[in-house]
Amino acid sequence: METIESILEMKAWSSTTKAQGKKIAFVPTMGYLHKGHLELIKKAKERCPRVVSSIFVNPKQFGPSEDYANYPRNLERDRELAEWAGTDVLFVPKAEEMYPEDYSTYVEVEELSDVLCGASREGHFKGVATVVMKLFNIVQPYEAFFGEKDAQQLIIIRKMIKDLNMDIKIISVPTIRETDGVALSSRNKYLNEEERKQAVCLYQSILRAKEMIDSGERSAEKIKAGMEKVIKEKPLAGIDYIEIVDASKLKKLDSISGRVLVALSVKIGKARLIDNIMVEV
Ligand code: PAJ
Repeated sequence: METIESILEMKAWSSTTKAQGKKIAFVPTMGYLHKGHLELIKKAKERCPRVVSSIFVNPKQFGPSEDYANYPRNLERDRELAEWAGTDVLFVPKAEEMYPEDYSTYVEVEELSDVLCGASREGHFKGVATVVMKLFNIVQPYEAFFGEKDAQQLIIIRKMIKDLNMDIKIISVPTIRETDGVALSSRNKYLNEEERKQAVCLYQSILRAKEMIDSGERSAEKIKAGMEKVIKEKPLAGIDYIEIVDASKLKKLDSISGRVLVALSVKIGKARLIDNIMVEV
């Protein structure tokens, strides 16, 4: 596996690879890789002859009071894991090169970015869409891989691709979980032993929602109340939001039907954790 830091070098590698007729699969990440990231890389390797993974903790998607400075980083370990999972090139750009001092262009996917996580993280998805657009232009992939764990991010990226007539296939990968159901996340590192135990409440609340829907409940209010009860059983958990929205426009629903996203964000200790389930009713 090759590591590339320079944008020019990355572009040159991609152009040459494409000229050789080899399709590039791309897995963008912020590093501190876990089994969820590795699953994306493995899926990418199954589908394309060349895989580029990137590691870039993107300052533009963190709010001023968020964890940019403390976001976990471990490049040496990431290198080994990325290579093991099938990465051909690890792209690790420098923030100074991605965002020089006179940087001034942003991509904003309106409406979808203002709800759910966007409501409590102002500017977050503008930062995500902008960096993903930049990475796509640099890496020039045929396909790009995103986790369903970040359902809103996935929906926003798909919309950006459609609205801006981009020729990149977005492939989604189901959420990878620990044996107790907790979704793998780099931010789980912030949890102490007791907090980690209580973090299972996100998954439990999703299971409760699924049970209620499977047994015929259609009232979003009642399902959300059921989920809230599960979270409130854990004293260290504070609800940021619990929402039930339609899966394309992310509009709140009173009565659920069609493809529905049940999503929640819960603060436990220093970590803000998210989880979701997509249901077809
Ligand atoms: P990061 O949180 O590092 O996640 C990188 C990719 O891994 C995302 O597509 C995310 O959905 C996926 N992922 C994370 N946890 C997962 C899990 N448990 N199971 C399956 N997939 C999982 O998301 C970002 O970085 C950034 O916003 C980024 C897209 C790189 C832009 O900066």
